[in-house]
Amino acid sequence: MAKEKVVLAYSGGLDTSVILKWLQETYGYDVVAMVADVGQGEDELAGLKEKALATGAVAAYIEDIKEELVRNYLFPMLRSGAVYEGKYLLGTAAARPAIAKRLVEIAEKEGAVAVAHGCTGKGNDQVRFELTVKALKPELQVIAPWREWEITSRTEAIEYARRHHIPIPVTVEKPYSIDRNIWHISYEGGILEDPAREPDPGMFRLTVSPEEAPDQPERVEIGFEKGIPVSVNGEELGPVELVLALNRIAGRNGVGRVDMVENRLVGMKSRGVYETPGGTLLAFAHRELEQLTLDRETYHFKEAIALKYAEILYYGLWFSPLREALDAFVAQTQETVTGTVMLQLYKGNIIVSARTSPYSLYHSDMATFESDDLYDHKDAQGFINLFGLPLKIRGLLSQEWKQPVKEGEIG
Ligand code: ARG
Repeated sequence: MAKEKVVLAYSGGLDTSVILKWLQETYGYDVVAMVADVGQGEDELAGLKEKALATGAVAAYIEDIKEELVRNYLFPMLRSGAVYEGKYLLGTAAARPAIAKRLVEIAEKEGAVAVAHGCTGKGNDQVRFELTVKALKPELQVIAPWREWEITSRTEAIEYARRHHIPIPVTVEKPYSIDRNIWHISYEGGILEDPAREPDPGMFRLTVSPEEAPDQPERVEIGFEKGIPVSVNGEELGPVELVLALNRIAGRNGVGRVDMVENRLVGMKSRGVYETPGGTLLAFAHRELEQLTLDRETYHFKEAIALKYAEILYYGLWFSPLREALDAFVAQTQETVTGTVMLQLYKGNIIVSARTSPYSLYHSDMATFESDDLYDHKDAQGFINLFGLPLKIRGLLSQEWKQPVKEGEIG
């Protein structure tokens, strides 16, 4: 009888190599390896298929999902304005559901009964993988070896690999954990765990430090259609090329580094360092264009939506009814978010220099101090009287109560 199959999200690193063998030994499954190409780079992908087969996989897939990731996850997120805890541009959080979706598709194609991943039991990524599987194919079993096995350290993993003749990756082990895709690189764990300690300047790969950046500002113009970026410096680009182009431009100007202490879904705080060069430009430019084109109430309401969107994305709830509903709202708001934004990049800073839109709500006559047909200064008096009525009533009553209205005292 043919063995049952499990599809493993495989990276070719030590952990998933050991997991591949461990799944065969522990569960007696045939293992199908799947690598998602999310833009982690040629060097990380080279030779992975052969390596997976050499480690004992019955089949290996290298799936290029870059375009899908940018088009169906990162750009909708960008349009929403989602930024987690004011700083994190959600590069890993957006990629996980995209990878897990493809894992499920390969499992269906292969008739597998289970999927497996190499996420540890302490992070957000396990949640994101597994919630996606639950939403898309609830009957599929999920195996998370890091939560099951006895291996607790890299040394033990190497031991296991030696015993089972698994080729041990020759790459030098970094003193922190890295997750890279087309949108960002995240660094955390290891020597970064102490938030009082500055990261090693040699760690960064997508951005130069501000002091290494050119002494002249560089201008870049980004074009949007309905909230989706479509061009750089007047040249129309597909989603993948566009992000890569902006990564280079921002990166050489030292733009896109973030160092933060964030609240993980699983309860603890963690220190993360991120490089999101192109994404930082896109988020900045998109907000500029919305400030030009959205009416006040929609803009303010959307700011609240963005907080929630970031939270559900961070929490792994991408395939949820709330995310779909928020996307419908966001899409409606983006009908007029079309135009261009010119930015100046200078030593890690972004300075906006111009924005244009055929749907601009900016009315230069209105902004001047002259009286005109639309705005009668006298109307302002009645407006202020009614708008201020609650404050006036409280002011009068507080005199009777002998409770003065307070300044912002710090006590
Ligand atoms: N803290 C970030 C997040 O939760 C990044 C996680 C990076 N994952 C990793 N395996 N290093 O989205």
